[in-house]
Amino acid sequence: MADTNQIKHVASPLARQTLLDGDLTRPVAGSRPIRLLPWLQVVKIGGRVMDRGHEAILPLVDELRSLLPEHRLLILTGAGIRARHLYSVGLDLGLPVGSLAPLAASEAGQNGHILASLLAPEGVSYIEHPTIASQLAIHLSAARAVVGSAFPPYHHHEFPNSRIPLHRADTGAFLLADALGAAGLTIVEDVDGVYTVDPNGADGKSAQLLRETSAADLAKHKGTLPLDPALLDVMANARHIARVQVVNGLVPGRLTAALRGQHVGSIIHTGARPA
Ligand SMILES: Nc1ncnc2c1ncn2[C@@H]1O[C@H](COP(=O)(O)OP(=O)(O)O)[C@@H](O)[C@H]1O
Ligand SMILES: [Mg+2]
Repeated sequence: MADTNQIKHVASPLARQTLLDGDLTRPVAGSRPIRLLPWLQVVKIGGRVMDRGHEAILPLVDELRSLLPEHRLLILTGAGIRARHLYSVGLDLGLPVGSLAPLAASEAGQNGHILASLLAPEGVSYIEHPTIASQLAIHLSAARAVVGSAFPPYHHHEFPNSRIPLHRADTGAFLLADALGAAGLTIVEDVDGVYTVDPNGADGKSAQLLRETSAADLAKHKGTLPLDPALLDVMANARHIARVQVVNGLVPGRLTAALRGQHVGSIIHTGARPA
């Protein structure tokens, strides 16, 4: 600390600079952050898989259970049919997006509680966001996996660009995986991956699986995707997660193969440089 004119100044390379000038901040802030949990595999389970009930959930739970000796997992669940109902009731009542976001997030959490209950005999439990933020490492030292909500906690801070929350489970799962410097993120869907058009839509017969694509290409994609649009923006600025694989959770073995590094769904390359 330097003492000038009785004013205490903290010596810091950023002390006298505006944080808005990238040229000035880059020498300090431009390097790649450390990986906090480089051995962690993050698995995001879509709400539409959970909505199918025991026929979809029990085989997936068996698969997750058999993965535990091989991987340490952060399992994050998304929202499905109950959030869609909440959105329609809330929109009908004119609720702002910041009120709808936590309602949908609570459904993602419910799905997480369901999965965690089924994996409880393996020592797996559901943990809340503050615990993920500050005590994930200790929980994963005690158990091979934990379950959390994939929804990011924007809640009343959700951006007002859209009446439906922009930042949903895919975005939340990616933000966490990238911030933790995880080994990988796998997104579990109810289809084989990302297609040229919705395989369950009117033009489904013409749908072709995109085995390998990039966030930049998907950002230009016209039509629907099985992913949050905000995910593509976040992927463009990723620091660690260089690729994400989208796999079909209704086909036993796909998730296991993906975690073993096999190409069994759609691989999406992000903007992160491979280390
Ligand atoms: N381009 C596309 N590729 C694959 N699936 C798509 C596409 N467009 C729409 N879909 C539909 O998205 C569905 C998944 O919906 P989504 O909201 O992503 O579920 P979840 O909440 O489980 O992630 C698929 O079942 C599929 O019908
Ligand atoms: Mg999806």
